[in-house]
Amino acid sequence: MAYNEAIMDHFSKPRNVGEIEDPDGVGEVGNPVCGDMMKFTIKVKDDRLDDVKFLTFGCGAAIAVSSKVSEMAKGKTLDEAMQITNKDVAEALGGLPGNKMHCSNLGADALHKAIEDYRERQK
Ligand code: FES
Repeated sequence: MAYNEAIMDHFSKPRNVGEIEDPDGVGEVGNPVCGDMMKFTIKVKDDRLDDVKFLTFGCGAAIAVSSKVSEMAKGKTLDEAMQITNKDVAEALGGLPGNKMHCSNLGADALHKAIEDYRERQK
């Protein structure tokens, strides 16, 4: 199995790793296929994602996916970020090897959950 350059780049130098202190929203998801976990924390300012950080307890592809999602989402409005799909992320990474496609299933989901959590807190 070979990962392409974009995946290797995000895996070896993941962007936005960590956890935001006092976040405005938190999203956590587990992958039913393998049990890996992803956690996104966000800061929201004027309806935009001011900061996005992630922690991924998972394989290299999952780390690359989280890193890419965080990069794609940062600076976007909440509605725009909600439009990002797992498929968009896999495509932005140039595709994942077939047996690793399930690893792209968490990133956008975890981000969306964090946004939903933020919206819930505003009520
Ligand atoms: Fe679990 Fe990749 S093997 S997310």
